[in-house]
Amino acid sequence: MDKLIITGGNPLHGELRISGAKNAALPILAAALLSETPIVIGNVPHLQDITTTMELLGRMGVHLVVDEKLNIEIDTGTITNFFAPYELVRTMRASILVLGPLLSRFGKAEVSLPGGCAIGSRPVNLHLQGLAAMGADIHVRNGYIHAEAKRLRGCRIVLDMVTVTGTENLVMAAALADGTTLIENAAREPEVVDLANFLNAMGAKIHGAGTDIIEIEGVTALSGQGAHYSILPDRIETGTYLVAAAMTGGKVRLKNTRPDLLDAVLFKLKEAGADITTTDSTIELDMHGRRPLSVSLRTAPYPAFPTDMQAQFTAMNSVADGVGVITETVFENRFMHVQEMQRMGADIALESNTAIIRGRQGLTAAPVMATDLRASASLVLAGLVAEGQTVVDRIYHIDRGYECIEEKLSQLGAEIRRVPH
Ligand code: EPZ
Repeated sequence: MDKLIITGGNPLHGELRISGAKNAALPILAAALLSETPIVIGNVPHLQDITTTMELLGRMGVHLVVDEKLNIEIDTGTITNFFAPYELVRTMRASILVLGPLLSRFGKAEVSLPGGCAIGSRPVNLHLQGLAAMGADIHVRNGYIHAEAKRLRGCRIVLDMVTVTGTENLVMAAALADGTTLIENAAREPEVVDLANFLNAMGAKIHGAGTDIIEIEGVTALSGQGAHYSILPDRIETGTYLVAAAMTGGKVRLKNTRPDLLDAVLFKLKEAGADITTTDSTIELDMHGRRPLSVSLRTAPYPAFPTDMQAQFTAMNSVADGVGVITETVFENRFMHVQEMQRMGADIALESNTAIIRGRQGLTAAPVMATDLRASASLVLAGLVAEGQTVVDRIYHIDRGYECIEEKLSQLGAEIRRVPH
């Protein structure tokens, strides 16, 4: 397994282009299954999870053509099966997103149950309950979801919990259902909006995406008609590099991003003492060489503070001036980065789903291990400020969600290199 070696101490300076959003690309690639004609998707990030999704679609017989800019043309005309095998699903839980489109267009799907993962048990009961409410016949046996439906029927669904991929699966299922579906307590994440925009570009009739009530009027067919859809920028990649600059007292300018998707994160960065200026597609953060101030926050569904930025702010608080209290309300086990940071000298006390972080002047380098995507990014951030050489192991987690992280950080002046294991 590759490792990353980071030598701390350099304030980050420079400019970066943000990649397309992983969590928008994944549902949109799955949604291409709904199109009767080829569709082209652009601004796709070059990530392991995207490769896995293309492998998954390819094994179904879907024809994919990728150009040098990673524009992906998807043609489902050659599809031969509706099977998502455990060996792929276990490497990427988001594979569950093929369930809704397969059921809606082809009336059949056999999808491995996604295992849990490091951050939580992550059940998919709400996905299955919603599809059953729309008339799907669903049986779970031998670790697989076996689903069939002559034609899904539109209905009113009230989600017990806000679930991002649950909302996305049900929106995709409803797109070709007979009648109108109302999803209440829907996720409001920008990636849900991007999916709805993509489906509407193919002729779907979806209203209310971005609010907690989404109405989908089922149509008989969707067609990409060779359209080219560009994925929205990654707000979590953006936030991660902003925190990296804030922790190192630097100044960065991020291009091809969307500041309007990051209100809660930008608010907290300003509270930490960062000077932030934005345009429609850029964010500039300047710490003027200062140490960040501690901030307190609670994660919650969008538009509140995103759980995917929690680990990064835990890292920032560990070197900030003051005491910060961070509460994780979305996942039950998303503080595994804490024990790794404690090995680097961080003063963090965990009480149930709350971390109390007493900022230190600095951290010391240590060999640490990545456990999940965002936790591993936060260990890299900690390495940027730690004295000495930090070695982050198991960085396949990082490669799932951050395109060329060492190149991008090196571009900003970080001393970081990847060593093959
Ligand atoms: C999406 O995961 C993201 N992944 C996650 O990003 C993100 O952390 C999460 O939303 C929350 O914002 C993708 O979009 C591919 P949920 P998802 O369903 O949809 C419970 C990353 O770092 N729940 O919104 O799986 C669940 O256990 C990843 O890029 C049920 O109980 O998350 C959790 O506690 C990590 N039953 C809560 O809801 C269900 O059927 C929110 O989960 C579904 C969810």
